Amino acid sequence: MSEQYRFVVVANRLPVDEIVDDDGKRAWTRSPGGLVSALQPTVRARRGAWIGWAGGTGEAPEPFALDGMWLHPIALTQQELDHYYEGESNATIWPLYHDAVETPAFHRHWREAYRRVNQRFAEAAAELAAPGAVVWVHDYQLQLVPAMLRELRPDLRIGFFLHIPFPPVELFMQLPWRTQILKGLLGADLVGFQRPGGAENFLRLTHNLGLEPEGDRVVVDGRTVTARAFPISIDVDEMEKLAADPHIRQRAKQLSEELGGHRRLLLGVDRLDYTKGIEHRLKAYRELLAEGRLSNQDVALVQVATPSRLRVAQYRQLRERVEREVGRINGEFGEVGLAPVHYLFRSYDREELLALYLAADVMVVTPLRDGMNLVAKEYVAARTDNSGALVLSEFTGAAAELPEAFGVNPHDVDGLKEAFVAALETPAEELGERMRRMREHVCAHDVGRWAREFLDALGEPPG
Ligand code: ADP
Ligand code: F6P
Repeated sequence: MSEQYRFVVVANRLPVDEIVDDDGKRAWTRSPGGLVSALQPTVRARRGAWIGWAGGTGEAPEPFALDGMWLHPIALTQQELDHYYEGESNATIWPLYHDAVETPAFHRHWREAYRRVNQRFAEAAAELAAPGAVVWVHDYQLQLVPAMLRELRPDLRIGFFLHIPFPPVELFMQLPWRTQILKGLLGADLVGFQRPGGAENFLRLTHNLGLEPEGDRVVVDGRTVTARAFPISIDVDEMEKLAADPHIRQRAKQLSEELGGHRRLLLGVDRLDYTKGIEHRLKAYRELLAEGRLSNQDVALVQVATPSRLRVAQYRQLRERVEREVGRINGEFGEVGLAPVHYLFRSYDREELLALYLAADVMVVTPLRDGMNLVAKEYVAARTDNSGALVLSEFTGAAAELPEAFGVNPHDVDGLKEAFVAALETPAEELGERMRRMREHVCAHDVGRWAREFLDALGEPPG
């Protein structure tokens, strides 16, 4: 039997993705998304094991050590990639849990693959976890794992954290296998959500199983399950260290100069996902240029769009629409050497991302729905001199923690336009005060605290 671990994380993705280039050469890159940003410091600090998919199909790479973590890849077949990851996870559950902003699709054969892959993750965790270990399962792709794992290893402390919103009861009830999902989650000792509303929705649903929740607890087969909010956060130290790095500060200056020197910079950084409100943001920006309220001479928008789930039809269509709109804005309002929108469809390393955060006068975060949105918190953490403005959708988890941001409803295009202008025109002194208060909150609630609070509530043994 391989070595066993006192702390095991189970998540759909490993923190690194294996990529194979055209010549068949293999390499590892950082995986996309907020989950990886948040969990990596936690697992590293505990020298734990991380079970996850390595990004390809066919045989899984051999387990290996990285940065003090033990990474244990899980294999997916091409059909499982289609049905479990792209189908059930990202074309059914993802849109449904995000207020059905795109229509969820329901297919029985997707569900079977989801169940099979969840079982595989549970079996791997059962093997890697030491007796009485803490196993922390993550996110919507693995909602059946807690109950499957409990069945295999009743000695473990099992936690589950949902990184995305947990939907209102009426939406959840659309899931044909809602009962199995609820029972899957109830296999955990502690179920964590981004917002108290998610925990309340979940507890309310347990009535459907004949259970009677009291406060934040519900008793299942004589076992107490707790459901609570644990708003996730970021590695503030990492952000501050990078923000102080002279090379990165120099790079930020260079970026500002390349964008035209005196032009104020609006910045969006998102996975290219229809939940992120990228189209709404572009529309507001185009209208401001068309009305002459903003001038291409004075402002520029940089939109970083990380490639994501591009084999799912809704994501491909979104990419086409976004790129068409960017082309339209640049065609109508651009000049030679001076583009209104700089659209960057790629992943960046942390250093370049930080340089962008430092160069941006206004960070625009306009999701239609988002569990938390770590980009908003990263921007705040990076602005160590309290400069800069944050435009933040009220439909993000982060909005509840950052009331000093310029709050927006992204469906209200006029409201979005007002917020962009206000963020650009508010006097530096007021912006400084707003940013100071936001920084105070983010610095006091970093990812270390999030993990500690969750794991304390789960009963992680000290040391
Ligand atoms: P989600 O989890 O939905 O992708 P979040 O905003 O919560 O959204 O987290 C996104 C994370 O991914 C952040 O830590 C951010 O820094 C990182 N990120 C986003 N875009 C890029 C990019 N192009 N290159 C590198 N990292 C990125
Ligand atoms: O919580 C957001 C999240 O969906 C994570 O679960 C996921 O790892 C990340 O975004 C990126 O998405 P994907 O793994 O589908 O590329």
